[in-house]
Amino acid sequence: MFQARVIESGGKTEFYRDLSQQLASLLENERDAVANAANTAALLFELMPDLNWAGFYFLRDGGELVLGPFQGKPACVRIAVGRGVCGTAVAEKRAMLVEDVHAFADHIACDAASRSELVVPLIRDGEILGVIDLDSPTVGRFDEHDRSALEEIAAIYVVASSLED
Ligand code: SME
Repeated sequence: MFQARVIESGGKTEFYRDLSQQLASLLENERDAVANAANTAALLFELMPDLNWAGFYFLRDGGELVLGPFQGKPACVRIAVGRGVCGTAVAEKRAMLVEDVHAFADHIACDAASRSELVVPLIRDGEILGVIDLDSPTVGRFDEHDRSALEEIAAIYVVASSLED
């Protein structure tokens, strides 16, 4: 049985090193993309402080993001590329760090409690397969350190999982 270890460290560097190691070991014997997304969302939601939503959207035929495994309140199922924070991350092929979602004109509110958001693309061989989305009830919860760490977490997930294009 895998048991997540609470991370007691004070610094983000140690926190994310530990989180990445736990994720790699959680995914090491499984290739199924949905199962691995479900466990990744659960681990992020359990160990990262101050989140109200953590999950995946996968890019489907027709250029739409479709909701994948997540933890938190039920969320909008389909997001067009170019819309919202998630769709913008796909259209611009980059991470989106939104300090205050009320100041992001096209933010799509799934949970009224969300005040800041971090979205990173899932990329394999230069192609976007979807995104990981984190929401927090705290304005300014995420910084550049969180962004680069979540990009690494996305890479661990992509390498471990046999995602369909
Ligand atoms: N806020 C996102 C929508 C997804 S929910 O946060 C889970 C967006 O603007 O794309």
